[in-house]
Amino acid sequence: MCGIVGYTGLRQAGPVLLDGLRRLEYRGYDSAGIALVTDDGDLFVEKRAGKVANLEDALAGDPPSAGIGLGHTRWATHGRPSDLNAHPHSDCTGRITVVHNGIVENFRELRGELAAHGHSLKSETDTEVVAHLVEDAYKGDLADAVRAALRRLEGAYALVVMHRDEPERLVGARFNAPLIVGVGDGESFLASDAAAIVAYTKKVIFLADGDVADLLPGKVTITDRDGNAIQRVIDIIPWSAEAAEKGGYPHFMLKEIHEQPTALTSAMAGRVRGETICLEELDPIRERLADIDRVEMIACGTAYFASLVGSSLMQDWLGVSARSTVASEFRYSPPPIDARTLVVAVTQSGETADTIAAARLAGDRGALVVAVTNTVGSAITREAHASVFLQAGPEVAVAATKTFVAQVLTLVLLTAEVSRQLGRRTLEQEHELVKELRLLPAKAARAIELSSVAEEMATRYADAVGFMYIGRAFGYPAALEGALKIKEISYLHAEGYAAGELKHGPISLLDADVPLVAVATRSVVYEKLISNLMEGQARDARVIAVATEGDENIAKLATDVLWVPDTAEPLSPILAVIPLQLFAYHMAVARGRDVDQPRNLAKSVTVE
Ligand code: M6R
Repeated sequence: MCGIVGYTGLRQAGPVLLDGLRRLEYRGYDSAGIALVTDDGDLFVEKRAGKVANLEDALAGDPPSAGIGLGHTRWATHGRPSDLNAHPHSDCTGRITVVHNGIVENFRELRGELAAHGHSLKSETDTEVVAHLVEDAYKGDLADAVRAALRRLEGAYALVVMHRDEPERLVGARFNAPLIVGVGDGESFLASDAAAIVAYTKKVIFLADGDVADLLPGKVTITDRDGNAIQRVIDIIPWSAEAAEKGGYPHFMLKEIHEQPTALTSAMAGRVRGETICLEELDPIRERLADIDRVEMIACGTAYFASLVGSSLMQDWLGVSARSTVASEFRYSPPPIDARTLVVAVTQSGETADTIAAARLAGDRGALVVAVTNTVGSAITREAHASVFLQAGPEVAVAATKTFVAQVLTLVLLTAEVSRQLGRRTLEQEHELVKELRLLPAKAARAIELSSVAEEMATRYADAVGFMYIGRAFGYPAALEGALKIKEISYLHAEGYAAGELKHGPISLLDADVPLVAVATRSVVYEKLISNLMEGQARDARVIAVATEGDENIAKLATDVLWVPDTAEPLSPILAVIPLQLFAYHMAVARGRDVDQPRNLAKSVTVE
């Protein structure tokens, strides 16, 4: 949602903060700002609407000398994007400054109360009340004042507070929004995620909800909101700063698409052994897994589409009822849930508020909750009885790519493992699957190679007024994901539809300006899909087919073909999505869009 970074130590804080904000910009880019306590003892604040580049222009490359500061990049919730609403926000005295990610739900009531007590609030944001609450509570100890202010807040927050008169101290706190502490040598950091600070330290503490972190250079004390001391372990970030850089690619999205063969290899690392699959992460819950009689998957966006593959396989391989529900809807019509229900929460960031809320509800009702996430230490891992990590490395582009394929693969592994444990699949079936899994990274690399035509194709399709994407069975989630990629980064309407439903309405949208994209890889539904493809062709729509290498039939039917290697059907969405990602990427470039930071979006959505 928003990105936060804080620093206290011997370095120049300004460049550390700006570097961190550039790396966090994927979390929001409506405005950016920093505050520093300068070496002269002044509180310096600069903030600008728009991207971090606007802030850098305003600073003219020369922030004042300071060893402490905090920074923020915003995805607007309360208050439109503007210089005034940009963080940091300050109190009446101009000594206390705050950055915040989340929503203070009772901010209207608090605003009224603060105004009645003579406070002057300048912005339209919910965040500003925090600065004034700290001001009221401040008696010479910033951490005490922050804890007192937190006790008044309802809602979600990750925040960092700084006081001009305590020029080495930062206080951070989290509740339902991510915040980590970076432990350095003679220096300390706070950040929304590790990408902001991994260039300086790999040692981090994942704060838990309710934690308050009190930072001095090289010293970190953690308490709860009542001041009781808490011990937290230090984790080591397993990737380097370079992993979160473009590495010569023009965009993160293109880099991450090309990283997919590696991401698939990593997702299998330690889990595909010899001829079998083994997810040790499930060991603590084996007994409960043995009893499950239903599976519910919850997720949002791309993760939801990946979960459709997972639930379909769970139903098929486990022989129990399984379904996927968009997390934001799950709570409004929750299914019957009990101790025999396995709930799988799929989320790249592990911070998506809707998915966390749904997982919490399921856990409260006694379900066995498993998280499938890319982010170690994220909030979803605290809601789950077991977590299976994607091991895909950091994904920076707002449009998910490598984490989709890693999610599908991880769900296949999870399903294979559980179905074997329950005795629903034979070892021979598992050996067959493992053979295909081992070939998958090379096939993904081949799919990327075969998709080189997507760039030229995009120039021919850039004038389309919209797209219809269709697929059946395992091709359906790939179609949904392909359409979402077009929407997100090209700003063109693209509808993902179950191919069989085309004739029940959306076929009326097809004409020469609305191409049909059909996921028509080899499968048991191939012939039916071809009929749907021809229905589009008969309405003058240009047809792009994603097809299996060697399918001579389809080249005669489609205007353009995006080829992928053959694979086992449950793995087919992993390969089919690759040309669709590349097509969407090149469409966005051809249409001059901001590929990595599309308008109105943020990478992780920590509000409901
Ligand atoms: O972090 P999550 O996987 O929970 O995020 C869910 C969605 O917000 C995310 O997949 C979104 O749809 C992406 N921008 C898709 O490219």
